[in-house]
Amino acid sequence: MKNQEIIVLDFGGQYNQLIARRVRECGVYCEVKPFTTPVSEIKAAEPIGLIFTGGPGSVYDEKSPQADPELFGLGIPILGICYGCQLLAHNLGGRVTAAQDDSAREYGKTETYFDTSAKLFKGLSERGVSWMSHGDYMEKVPDGFRLIAHSEACPNVAICDEERGFYGVQFHPEVNHTENGTEMIRNFLFEVCGAKGDWTMGDYKAEAIKNIRERVGNGKVLLALSGGVDSSVAAALMAEAVGNQLTCVFVDHGLMRLNEGDEVEEAFSKWNINFIRVNAENRFLIRLAGVSEPELKRKIIGEEFIRVFEAEAKKIGKVDFLCQGTIYPDVIESGAGNAAVIKSHHNVGGLPDYVDFKEIIEPLRMLFKDEVRALGRELGLPEYLVMRQPFPGPGLAIRVIGDVTKEKLDTLRHADWIFRDEVAKSGLESAMNQYFAVLTNMRSVGVMGDGRTYDYTLALRSVTTSDFMTADWTRIPYDVLDRVSTRIVNEVGNVNRIVYDITSKPPATIEWE
Ligand code: XMP
Repeated sequence: MKNQEIIVLDFGGQYNQLIARRVRECGVYCEVKPFTTPVSEIKAAEPIGLIFTGGPGSVYDEKSPQADPELFGLGIPILGICYGCQLLAHNLGGRVTAAQDDSAREYGKTETYFDTSAKLFKGLSERGVSWMSHGDYMEKVPDGFRLIAHSEACPNVAICDEERGFYGVQFHPEVNHTENGTEMIRNFLFEVCGAKGDWTMGDYKAEAIKNIRERVGNGKVLLALSGGVDSSVAAALMAEAVGNQLTCVFVDHGLMRLNEGDEVEEAFSKWNINFIRVNAENRFLIRLAGVSEPELKRKIIGEEFIRVFEAEAKKIGKVDFLCQGTIYPDVIESGAGNAAVIKSHHNVGGLPDYVDFKEIIEPLRMLFKDEVRALGRELGLPEYLVMRQPFPGPGLAIRVIGDVTKEKLDTLRHADWIFRDEVAKSGLESAMNQYFAVLTNMRSVGVMGDGRTYDYTLALRSVTTSDFMTADWTRIPYDVLDRVSTRIVNEVGNVNRIVYDITSKPPATIEWE
């Protein structure tokens, strides 16, 4: 039976995928479609509701994305967010203008007052913080609509026509900064659209498998398996979808943590899939020799990966698809769309022209980390694999600051293992979403026994986060830090100083490079 569906119409906003995620969190199936999608296609999908996203444009600018007026006559409830709200007003007889002065232009957290008799705000508090980001405002509310929220600066923060199920909010309910934002979306779905909450991760799995089968046909797929959560979940999904048309290649680039290569081989060689381990440490170390610029390191590793795959693909013969475990935060942070490039994650699609695969498949591209984990459980992956902390594709090369050598990698591997060992012994693992050691390229003077030392400074990093896009540094108890520090200095040869990284993201990133 077909799931109820919400269609998110994309007018170019920054948070559009977050809207989709919030809808799915509420147990309602959702698709994001471009605003240019023909009305006939929208009708054919029989959605129970539409959500118009934000966007950078101004509705009165003709070049800005416009909504097809027919959408307002379909009898389907609509929630307009920010620009989407202005589209509602503009199309239904209201007036939107550029804010004349700064007082009506709102950015950031804004104290807002809600009319809780409106279905959208039912059961929520009458006052709360909402996240605004708009330069235009609704000067005149369309006929048939009433005002249901205001702030100090702006009388028209939210509007509704309950009869037709049309709601518009100037703020962004989908971002965490808006108090009760998810509850408002839930109210729209359940109170206004009559959602039943009939969508589960099991449905997502079934849908994803169907789509993969359609796309791949009889083709062969090569999958880049790193042993991390994302690629393991992608592998399990692909294995279920296309069986032995799939070959998983684990490139051991020599930049893994202690014993990790063997552990990955051990875990996956038990699976009923074609599994190949390629030992390519030398190849990577030669290319990385003398390179200290972080982006260049990433690019070299990314490219070398592709080359290794191509070579494997040639051996298998006629591989049509390359599958990667790219997840949504990787896509955003690599600068998809209009977002600024922060780091070029090497596992993000967009292959160079000369790459030898017909197509790339990224079945997790729209999922956040916790959704990937849920899908992994759905696919029957063991808990230790599903809950593994993330490990970056470029591996320890971006945790050795400056140029990378085998000796430095071995030093880092040993220290990192001690850190993880002490965390496990202290029972803190679940409070730390990602933790690791970084070998800085700074050396300093120390004293050991009666002698002077001049050795490396090693940094410990641990963060607490749910989405890895923002993160707080973990308050690790001093006694645990003390044990880690003592052991590393005593057991690892050339480290004589340990520091703990106490910056959050932003302004820092989680990795140091
Ligand atoms: P940053 O350092 O950007 O990291 O705050 C956010 C999360 O992404 C991981 N990371 C990567 N993962 N390929 C990956 O698969 C990469 O190139 C990469 N760089 C960073 C990082 O470990 C953290 O979990």
